[in-house]
Amino acid sequence: MDYNRILVTAALPYANGPIHIGHLAGCFLPADIYVRYQRAQKRDIKFVCGSDEHGVPITIRARKEGTTPQAIVDKYHKMIGDSFNDMGISFDIYSRTSSKGHHETAQAFFKKLYDDGIFEEKETEQFYDEEAKAFLADRYIIGTCPVCGNENAYGDQCEKCGSSLSPEQLKNPHSALSSSIPVKKKTKHWYFPLNKYEDFLKEWIVEGKKDEWKSNVYGQCKSWLDNGLQPRAMTRDSNWGVPVPLPNAEGKVMYVWFDAPIGYISATKELTPQWADYWQKEDTKLVHFIGKDNIVFHCIIFPSMLKAHGDFILPDNVPANEFLNIEGDKVSTSRNWAVWVHEYLKDFPEQQDILRYVLCANAPETKDNDFTWKDFQDRNNSELVAIFGNFVNRTFVLMHKLCEGRVPPLHEDILDEQDKAIIQAIKDAKTYVEQNIENYKFRDALYEVIDLARKGNKYMQEKEPWIVAKTLADNPENQMKIDNCMHLCLQLTANLAILANPFMPFTTQKMLHMMKVVDKMLEWENAGRLDLLKVKYPLRAPELLFKKIEDEQVKEQVDKLHEASAASKQQAEQETKSSAPVKEEIVFDDFAKLDLRVGTILHAERVPKTDKLMKIELDMGFEKRTVVSGIAQHFEAEAIIGKQVTVVANLAPRKMKGIESKGMILMAEDADGKLVFVSPVQQTAPGSEVR
Ligand code: MF3
Ligand code: ZN
Repeated sequence: MDYNRILVTAALPYANGPIHIGHLAGCFLPADIYVRYQRAQKRDIKFVCGSDEHGVPITIRARKEGTTPQAIVDKYHKMIGDSFNDMGISFDIYSRTSSKGHHETAQAFFKKLYDDGIFEEKETEQFYDEEAKAFLADRYIIGTCPVCGNENAYGDQCEKCGSSLSPEQLKNPHSALSSSIPVKKKTKHWYFPLNKYEDFLKEWIVEGKKDEWKSNVYGQCKSWLDNGLQPRAMTRDSNWGVPVPLPNAEGKVMYVWFDAPIGYISATKELTPQWADYWQKEDTKLVHFIGKDNIVFHCIIFPSMLKAHGDFILPDNVPANEFLNIEGDKVSTSRNWAVWVHEYLKDFPEQQDILRYVLCANAPETKDNDFTWKDFQDRNNSELVAIFGNFVNRTFVLMHKLCEGRVPPLHEDILDEQDKAIIQAIKDAKTYVEQNIENYKFRDALYEVIDLARKGNKYMQEKEPWIVAKTLADNPENQMKIDNCMHLCLQLTANLAILANPFMPFTTQKMLHMMKVVDKMLEWENAGRLDLLKVKYPLRAPELLFKKIEDEQVKEQVDKLHEASAASKQQAEQETKSSAPVKEEIVFDDFAKLDLRVGTILHAERVPKTDKLMKIELDMGFEKRTVVSGIAQHFEAEAIIGKQVTVVANLAPRKMKGIESKGMILMAEDADGKLVFVSPVQQTAPGSEVR
């Protein structure tokens, strides 16, 4: 099938946090490389994306920060858009799903399916918060994890042990909205009958895409289809999302995975009045770039929706990547184990191409892969600096030194084997890079680019024009050999700019400047040509394309990663602690049973052979007492003598390490586990009652 236009989509990121390099490597960077290449091919192509602004996590984040979901998505939509822009991700449009246009498009889509009788209406029981008068998404139900005992597990997952849960499994379930105990209540929803699309999907994917799609993508689809598909609810009870456009659908919004992919359509509509060509004409090639966690939505659910609707084409390919780990560990936003794009840009200003290069060279195309700062340094220093940058720099320096800063002529009659081989390598590189990009093999494509630079270095090393230059006094005809070498190295440099452009667009701009040529040279059809730079054309002095990354920088980044994740761990612990639920209610009489008194510490000593226990003599006013308290890790014995403390005076005595302890000293414990005495703020008589 021949295509006349291409539509590329990149998964809409959730606008509830910044983007990290895993997002770039998985989806946005390969999409951008593909698009830049197709643009250079002068193909009719559009590249659409935007923020995914609905869904429960956004409402949770808003509650947590004490603000509205709209404020959250406004903040992150801007931040994410800026990061993409700064990294050179060249969308034709970066839209958003909270926009009016998107709501209209999604509602029209929903309405069409409804009118065509596609949906099945079903009433089910869902958890409901009677105090907040709201149905609760699983995330909004909190309770004790049956697996690990974490008291703050969510109804869909325990973040402590990672178990996936259903709300019914939680002990002590309570609502995150009001803390009340949720009850079951009937509610009606609209289900999309995925089961009815199994045959269509099998024919389209299993029979049609086996050899075309990446095996990781095909494999996931196959296993979903082999397991059989179930109807899926496409609506939710919530006030954040696209309202369901039906009468009597008060409080119902679309499931976020129903409206978000329609966001690709709304974004295209916003971009161009010709949007329908890209979505409805069979000679359009639709390509979805996504991460592997999105495969089922883009290969099973959305295509079934498109098919049911009837007016739209289906994706030609869905080149999903696997995940990128960081320094040997899974990326986790909740543990803050991530390299954030906006922070990278702050720490490595103007060095977008190093990151683009490393993420592509090491992309998780066929399996999960690891990003390490050491590898980042190695690839920069030994590939970008030592191979690519070095070749271009030497070429320019020597051209100024040996050819008066102008492109020397090529003397065809004296071309030798090495010259012919490098000419062939320049021609071949175009084919290799092109075939790999067309097949979504961006790592291999990039390898071919660097390999051409490597061959250039080797050629120059063998030719040694700087040595030949020393023979000129005796053999002036040797200038022709120098000319040939430098001419070919310069044409190779121009070719490198064209081939590297999809991957490292900032670098190629610098190269254009040095060569004093315009963007038009970067058109793909120019690759493989040996007359890109005109003979006698004067060129600028070289500027360094890449600089070395020092060990110090690597260490800083690794430390930063560990520090940020430790800080977030501490914060999470604090939050769990400070949010420890208040105990069961008691009446005054329960409280009145406690006899609390002020005591003064007369003497203290560690209990031998224990870590924690301290033996304390107290003046209680009416008597002297011994209390054993577990505070030895927090205080030095001498330091607490004379302190006044609060004591539970009527606690039944008990023996610890053979010492009878009469009463208990009250302590306050902060989130870090630090202990402090609960003392009267002024000196008071020992034995005074605390009420
Ligand atoms: N927001 C989703 C994610 O980050 C991706 C949505 S892709 C779309 O996983 F197709 F739904 F837009
Ligand atoms: Zn758990």
